[in-house]
Amino acid sequence: MDTIRLFYLSLLDKFDPQLHFLQEKARSLNQQLSSTYSPLQLVTTTALVTTCVIGVYRFIFIHEEDLVIRLRETVFRLARRLPVVQRQIAKAREDTLTSVCNDIATSIAGHKFIQSLPTQGLSKKKLLEKLEQYRNFEKINFQDGQVSGCVYKIPRTDMTDIYQQIFILFGDSNPLHVDVFPDIRTMEAEVVRCVATMFHGNESVCGTMTSGGTESLIMACKTYRDLAYSKGISKPEM
Ligand SMILES: *[C@@H]1O[C@H](CO)[C@@H](O)[C@H](O)[C@H]1NC(C)=O
Repeated sequence: MDTIRLFYLSLLDKFDPQLHFLQEKARSLNQQLSSTYSPLQLVTTTALVTTCVIGVYRFIFIHEEDLVIRLRETVFRLARRLPVVQRQIAKAREDTLTSVCNDIATSIAGHKFIQSLPTQGLSKKKLLEKLEQYRNFEKINFQDGQVSGCVYKIPRTDMTDIYQQIFILFGDSNPLHVDVFPDIRTMEAEVVRCVATMFHGNESVCGTMTSGGTESLIMACKTYRDLAYSKGISKPEM
């Protein structure tokens, strides 16, 4: 400890003339400022300048998004305020809205929307009739696989029957209650293990099940982000 201190002291000694010069400069600047401005002016100006510098520093360096991207976004945001651009955006929005409304309105033309719960519950027969009515709204032939993205229905096969039977068996279970539903718990564990085996995972590999594509994707990203945190990366990108 002492040797380090001695080292720094000798360093200070070596630069004594320069330090002295800086000290003198600071002192004269101080005198000059205090003779020209009132203390209140000095304090306020210092506070303002410091705030601005911190603001600019934070804007440039402390942000998840790249500076260039943020500048570009700012330019676009400002451009969107121009009346001519605003008119174009409003027109495009109006056109899209009209076309979407026309598209979806035709499929339920004449339908009267239910807007509050019925005072009397429906009988099973009535309920099924009603659902059948709704079912008849469907006009687009998605069964043949002509809808991309999120409808995976294939023509009615044995598989469809199996889904329906499975739903009758397990429709009222809740996997959150692992103690009440050992059947679901076991199947989940087996699915996790099968996937681990598929990816050549050894015995230490574990996993969990999520429902739905979106949650599954986000959970995978979150897992990688948290793994990065655990490795000391302070700003992992998701
Ligand atoms: C599984 O693999 C990981 C990574 O190679 C290793 O650290 C771990 O010890 C392995 N576990 C077993 C039970 O072999």
